[in-house]
Amino acid sequence: MIRRSVILGCGSYLPPQRVTNDDLVKRGVDTSDEWIVQRTGIKARYLAGPDETTADLAMKAAEAALANANIGADDVDLIVVATTTPENTFPSTAARLQGRLGLTRGFAFDVQAVCSGFVYALTMADNFLRLGQAKTALVIGAETLSRLVDWNDRGTCVLFGDGAAAVVMQAAEGKGEASDRGILSTHLHSDGRYYDKLYTDGGPGSTATTGVMKMEGREVYRQAVQRLAEVADEALEANKLPAEAIDWLVPHQANLRIIDSLAQKLKLPRERVVMTIHEHSNTGAASLPLALCSAVADGRIKRGQLLLLDVMGAGFTWGAALVRW
Ligand code: ACO
Repeated sequence: MIRRSVILGCGSYLPPQRVTNDDLVKRGVDTSDEWIVQRTGIKARYLAGPDETTADLAMKAAEAALANANIGADDVDLIVVATTTPENTFPSTAARLQGRLGLTRGFAFDVQAVCSGFVYALTMADNFLRLGQAKTALVIGAETLSRLVDWNDRGTCVLFGDGAAAVVMQAAEGKGEASDRGILSTHLHSDGRYYDKLYTDGGPGSTATTGVMKMEGREVYRQAVQRLAEVADEALEANKLPAEAIDWLVPHQANLRIIDSLAQKLKLPRERVVMTIHEHSNTGAASLPLALCSAVADGRIKRGQLLLLDVMGAGFTWGAALVRW
């Protein structure tokens, strides 16, 4: 018998302001719906209102996940928030949530791995649960990326949006086989040589500002296609599973063409790929769990199915998790 972390439920939240590509044109961005759809697949994004913060989005997602898992907030003793846009420079957004949930035991912290953040956070929670250092974990991806983009840079501002999604996890006994329910394995990587390919030109420790996003789009694209496929193979090999065993590929939602290329490499038809990029755009660490939650909520993902979670982000960071739902 071995311990596995099982995802008991999930929930998400998108701010009410839906902004289409045409709305961006009306707001003065020098772009077109045709260009954005053709290059990225994005048709709309949701943007936080002036009074909505990352913790507000995260709190709504957390409450929805706890209700979906039928777990009381009092049971949570670990909160991990993956975010690039924390509430404040410090303390962590996770600490803000812990306070709002009224919890006084356990521990809470943020993870910064940009768009890969959710799989990093999931990995940490998985390790704490399997070691017995925590019993019930709340893992959240939450972002207000609209506050980090330069709205005068059409090369980046059309790509990103805001949102949050959360999962609730607990440890359970497994047989140590790929048929076990829960997280079968996680795989993380980073390569800091690519630091300057996607970054903000400021930070609290350098300019004392947040800075705005800068990106070499083509290099990000090239690396994403390669790394997502590599780590997918690594996860399958670690579990001695063929790609055909995957019921659902749940990838980071950055670009439709990147996702299609990954699916082609894995020889998975589009019908087995969860896509929310058209409606959500790229919401950083929230993007994968938002996709996961949408496919759980509409009944596509069913108990017992095998999911491949696959992410890539600035750093570069990348990672994958194989999960038996
Ligand atoms: N609207 C209209 N035209 C635009 C826009 C826009 N929003 N943005 C750029 N252009 C123009 C450029 O000015 C350029 O014009 P020119 O040929 O006259 O100079 C032309 O379009 C081509 O620009 P490129 O940047 O070369 O376009 P490319 O085909 O590389 O597509 C894109 C850009 C969509 C950003 C692509 O590189 C990409 O998707 N890269 C991956 C980036 C990504 O996903 N980042 C997310 C964060 S990282 C992650 O999540 C994995």
